[in-house]
Amino acid sequence: MISNKIEDIINIQIEKEGYSSNLYLAMASWAENQGFAGTAEWLHAQAEEERSHMLKFIAYVNDRGGKAIIPDFKKPPSDFVDISTCFKQVMEHERYITNSINEIVALCAQERDFTTQNWVQWFVNEQIQEEKSVQGILDKLRLLGPGNLYMFDRDVLAMRQAEAAPAKTA
Ligand code: FEO
Repeated sequence: MISNKIEDIINIQIEKEGYSSNLYLAMASWAENQGFAGTAEWLHAQAEEERSHMLKFIAYVNDRGGKAIIPDFKKPPSDFVDISTCFKQVMEHERYITNSINEIVALCAQERDFTTQNWVQWFVNEQIQEEKSVQGILDKLRLLGPGNLYMFDRDVLAMRQAEAAPAKTA
């Protein structure tokens, strides 16, 4: 059984993960309109991952005697200036999510809820991977420069396919 405080902070996280999914979906739709098919595929896959994170938190709260609440979601932006700004926003958002996962870990320690602290460790590791993946994209953008966005878009597609490959064969 989880405490009210843990239930509340996970319900807040459910909203954040759902918003992340909608934010990346909005970015994917924008990228499609801009002709960046590879980037759009990466962002669509990311949106699905964030939805799966939200579902994990929902299932956990309900499995541990709490009540998951499906919230309203704030409308994400529909325009993102350019590709570089878009991925900088992804990184900024992922760092914000990393901080909020760390807040859950800290509250678990304070509440002596070592079960949830152990469970949420999966997200701690996931955030390392997500920030690393976005940093790889920002590095690629910097190296290729603004004149090579066609190549960048193809590379992002290849990166996503490489990341997805082990999951497909599992
Ligand atoms: Fe679920 Fe990318 O944080």
